[in-house]
Amino acid sequence: MSSTVAIVGAGRVGRGLGRRLRELGWKIGAVVSRSRAKANRAVRAIGGGVAHGGLTSQAVGADLVLISTPDDSIEPVARDLAKIAGEEWRGKIVLHTSGALDRTALEPLAKLGASTGSLHPLQTFSGREVPDLDGVVFAIEGDRRALRTARNIARSLGGSPVAIEGAHKAAYHAAGTMVAGQGLALVEAATRILMESGFTRRQAVQALLPLIRQMLLNFERHGPRVAWTGPHSRGDYATIARHNAALAKFPREFGGVYEALTILAGRVLAADPAAAEKALERAIQDFK
Ligand SMILES: NC(=O)c1ccc[n+]([C@@H]2O[C@H](COP(=O)([O-])OP(=O)(O)OC[C@H]3O[C@@H](n4cnc5c(N)ncnc54)[C@H](OP(=O)(O)O)[C@@H]3O)[C@@H](O)[C@H]2O)c1
Repeated sequence: MSSTVAIVGAGRVGRGLGRRLRELGWKIGAVVSRSRAKANRAVRAIGGGVAHGGLTSQAVGADLVLISTPDDSIEPVARDLAKIAGEEWRGKIVLHTSGALDRTALEPLAKLGASTGSLHPLQTFSGREVPDLDGVVFAIEGDRRALRTARNIARSLGGSPVAIEGAHKAAYHAAGTMVAGQGLALVEAATRILMESGFTRRQAVQALLPLIRQMLLNFERHGPRVAWTGPHSRGDYATIARHNAALAKFPREFGGVYEALTILAGRVLAADPAAAEKALERAIQDFK
């Protein structure tokens, strides 16, 4: 495995993976952000490396370059890096950490002879602390050499590498987004409903967390069908109608998401999705 890694895009993921790799004995090379101050902060968080406030040919001095900028910047960054170091890219390995994009975003570097791929930890990095990567799935993809490197890195970080076709990455990442960012929006929306109902934020969080944890535990231990509770699972359609009416005083999205998730639950959790859909449609007509 390579021994020097440069990090281009030293945000939440760049700092987190950089720190873990340093702890594993990797030498940290260039640490690049668009501002020198942020690069300096990243070097402190990682515990090594040389801060650069902008793209630099120093990046190519490493055996492995990890690009962890936002998705939309990966291709422009690859283009600029190609211009900066040209033929020096031959034989280097470049991986980006996007969940939705594949190695084609690194085409300008591949054309110069770099091995390219992607390494996406399916974990949420808040930037406050480096999350536990033990057992975390890393979706990996790339040319043969890049894939081998990505697999080795994922394993050395304690993760579980899973090879994925580039064409499947957007759907794969949508799934992760549904449970992380969008799952969080759902939890926060439920928190606000409880606060509107007289709970303090602290009480609301205290009320919801055990519910979420037990639901996840049931899902893990017994599977989705057993874990499914609530009015829809019982056919309590009058209760669903009450929920709809109660949510009418909240911003439109609250009721919209409730309705969409009720339909989705029937489709993915009911033993007979077609029957669940029909029963729900009938009940909606009855309550109109
Ligand atoms: N956060 C997560 O939970 C997570 C998990 C897995 C994978 N990912 C993936 O990892 C990548 C980074 O996500 P993130 O959440 O770490 O983003 P982030 O916290 O916003 O960090 C992105 C970093 O890139 C730097 N940057 C932006 N444009 C740049 C450019 N043109 N040249 C150099 N540096 C640039 C930014 O710093 P400056 O503003 O100072 O330039 C920032 O430090 C994305 O592809 C994302 O899909 C994220």
